[in-house]
Parts: sequence; C-alpha cells; structure tokens
Amino acid sequence: AGTVNVRVYDDPDGAVFVVLRLIENALSTAITERGKALWIGAGGGTPKPVYEQLSTLDLAWDKVTLSQVDERFVPLDDASSNSKMMAEAAATVIEKGMTFLSLIQDISNLAICSEKAETMLRNLSEDVPSFDLTLLGMGGDKHYASIFPGHPINDEVYDSDMLVLPVAASETGAEPKLPRITLTVPALNRSRRIVLYITGQAKLSALAAAIANPDPQWAPIGAFFSQYPGPVDIIWAP
Ligand code: 6PG
Repeated sequence: AGTVNVRVYDDPDGAVFVVLRLIENALSTAITERGKALWIGAGGGTPKPVYEQLSTLDLAWDKVTLSQVDERFVPLDDASSNSKMMAEAAATVIEKGMTFLSLIQDISNLAICSEKAETMLRNLSEDVPSFDLTLLGMGGDKHYASIFPGHPINDEVYDSDMLVLPVAASETGAEPKLPRITLTVPALNRSRRIVLYITGQAKLSALAAAIANPDPQWAPIGAFFSQYPGPVDIIWAP
C-alpha cells in the first residue's frame, strides 16, 4: 500500500481549507503537466462545503472535469441525487468552465445506466492513472463509494474488469436505500492520489477499526486502503 497521511483539525472549516489545498495542488499539477485535469468526488453530505468553496481556488476551470465516485440511481433532479448536490454546490466553477459529468447517463434501467457510465469513463480516462485526484467519503458502517459491508458485490468489486458496477438496493444497509452505481476498486486504483474527508468521532473510530482489521466484507474502506498503491491523505474534523 502507499503512504497514508492522517491530519486532524479542530473544526470543519480548517479541514475543508486543507482539502481544498490538496485539490488545488493535484489539479494545477495535472494542468501544468497534461493541459487538463480529471478528478472524481464523493456524494453524501460531508464534501458539500468543499464543492461550495471550489470557487476560492485560482485554477483554469475550463481545463478541469469532475465526475463521480458513485451515484444513487435516481433522476438528476431528485432530492437524493449526488449529481444534483455536486452540480449545485459547484455551480460557480461550472460557470467558470469546469465540466461536471454525472454517472447517470440513463435512468431507464440500472444495468444500462451502469454500462453507459462505463463507456463514458473509458472514453474519458484512457490514460492510467486516469484520475488526478479522488475525493472519497466514508459511512459510519465503513463503506466508501457504494461498496457496503456484507454486500454480494464485494466479491466482485476487487478484480472486476469493469470500471463501474450496478449495486442492488437490497442489503446495502445504507440510507437512503436506493439502487446505486459505483466505481470498482480497479477504477479507483487508477487515481493518482486519494483524499478521504470525514467528520465526527464515530467515523474516526470506525476508520481506525477498519484499518486495523481490513476485512473486505466487514470493513470495505480498510480493505481498499490496504491494497491502494498511491498516497492517501485522511482529513478529519469533529
Ligand atoms: C453516497 C456516497 C457515500 C458517502 C458516504 C458518506 O452516495 O452517499 O457517495 O459513499 O460518501 O455515505 O456520506 P456522508 O458524507 O453523507 O456521511
């Protein structure tokens, strides 16, 4: 596994500031080296302030593309859509030219939606590593992306040939209980670096337990970090 750097802050504002600096650094390096930057981000509630404050970063936003780590299988205007949250929170930098690509390219059927997201990501990310940065979140049950403890997909997700897989709603154990699509471990391993931003004492304890016992069924995020080859920055605030 790569290096893991854990940083603890007193308040979410300080932590968000540091997450923003890491994003700025990764994207500006990519723009200098390749003339473009591609990153992927988590949904859920925790990273919302990060997306909202992207406009404080001085970047060539027209050279930046943001897509998703995972998504709930709901229409783009649904209240539980991660795409809706991300597009609204990042509206200012989208106006400045950043491209936002939802994993939801089709809402007729979960399998077709997953296939279309697969095609979109393959077209987007021919280079390996593909993603200049991945901003991850984590649930108190030690899930990340839409890779949940005890879910049948966990047997497949580590050595899948696919970048994206559909995740049936049953057994995810997570709220909201919805079908989802998720990037697989081989897809997330195409990231140059990972930033995990979490808040709250319960998640810190869950993460410590997951790293100590990285069983893929019990602690998906621990299992992911134990094999991810690149650098990981873990940022925590109460
Ligand atoms: C989602 C996610 C998910 C998220 C965690 C943490 O669709 O919910 O992308 O993996 O990162 O569930 O969510 P919170 O930040 O809301 O606690």
